[in-house]
Amino acid sequence: MLAGDPAKRISFNRCIRNGDLVIVYERHDSMKAVTVAEGSVLQNRFGVFKYSDWIGKPFGSKVFSNKGGFVYLLAPTPELWTLVLSHRTQILYIADISFVVMYLEIVPGCLVLESGTGSGSLTTSLARAVAPAGHVHTFDFHEQRAASARDDFQRTGLSNLVRVGVRDIQGQGFPDDFAGLADAVFLDLPQPWLAIPSAAKMLKQDGTLCSFSPCIEQVQRSCETLRTSFTDIRTFEVLLRTYEVGEGKMERLQENGKGSNGSLPCKRRQCSDGGYVLSSNISSVVAKPCGEARGHTGYLTFARLKCLS
Ligand SMILES: C[S@@+](CC[C@H](N)C(=O)[O-])C[C@H]1O[C@@H](n2cnc3c(N)ncnc32)[C@H](O)[C@@H]1O
Repeated sequence: MLAGDPAKRISFNRCIRNGDLVIVYERHDSMKAVTVAEGSVLQNRFGVFKYSDWIGKPFGSKVFSNKGGFVYLLAPTPELWTLVLSHRTQILYIADISFVVMYLEIVPGCLVLESGTGSGSLTTSLARAVAPAGHVHTFDFHEQRAASARDDFQRTGLSNLVRVGVRDIQGQGFPDDFAGLADAVFLDLPQPWLAIPSAAKMLKQDGTLCSFSPCIEQVQRSCETLRTSFTDIRTFEVLLRTYEVGEGKMERLQENGKGSNGSLPCKRRQCSDGGYVLSSNISSVVAKPCGEARGHTGYLTFARLKCLS
């Protein structure tokens, strides 16, 4: 994504270099992150791919194996990284992540505190949002998870935007060095209410906080604690519905110009599965909700630090 120079987004015109991280796309549900190593190969069910064939090709290229099989070479954007990263914990996905970045008002230059780091899924997008001059300080009390996240940020070229600390944030709070400096704090912890007083201490005036919790009981307890120092407290559940839109079967009209059920062919018709059919004499475009929609992930509670005066 940001390999080499974290200040620059990878442009789709940018060509693949030796050492780049590339997302190898087989199908929408089969992708893998690999590091290009000249002189070596990638072997999968489609055959053997020589990395040297990839070097100099733009991201997005289709490349062929020795057997004529093919894959696409995609740039490791945070969106794709979230889909391929190693899931060491539950992670945040694109719908929640987008909402978090928007509602926490994270822009380039922000200083953001986060706990726990987990698999670093959210951290990756936070880093992109604060680049090039901002910083994300993320904490997890699990040493191995923190170390793996550090390795990942190195691999994705984010290590100069993110620092990973090992610390029990529920027990000790965030380090005092950040008091009054954070633009935003994000919590994904089992008992977030224990970390809220420390989060309040870390935030700049008007700073924003978000807490992600899978259960509504955690939300209720957090909101109770938030009321002491925060205002504008709001909780959301983000549900994303993806649609498949493509060519569909045409309805054959009868001689009287009506459809098979006797109805006049309408331009836009809702089907029983919630999808829509747009029909004309020549073609039909079918739009239907994707069957793989993710259900409940968790609740996002946002709040703004109260003004002192
Ligand atoms: C669900 S994961 C976070 C996932 C992360 N938001 C992501 O998108 O990849 C929760 C993390 O919180 C960490 N954690 C739990 N209690 C903690 C505490 N008291 N202090 C710091 N980290 C803690 C766990 O080790 C775990 O890695």
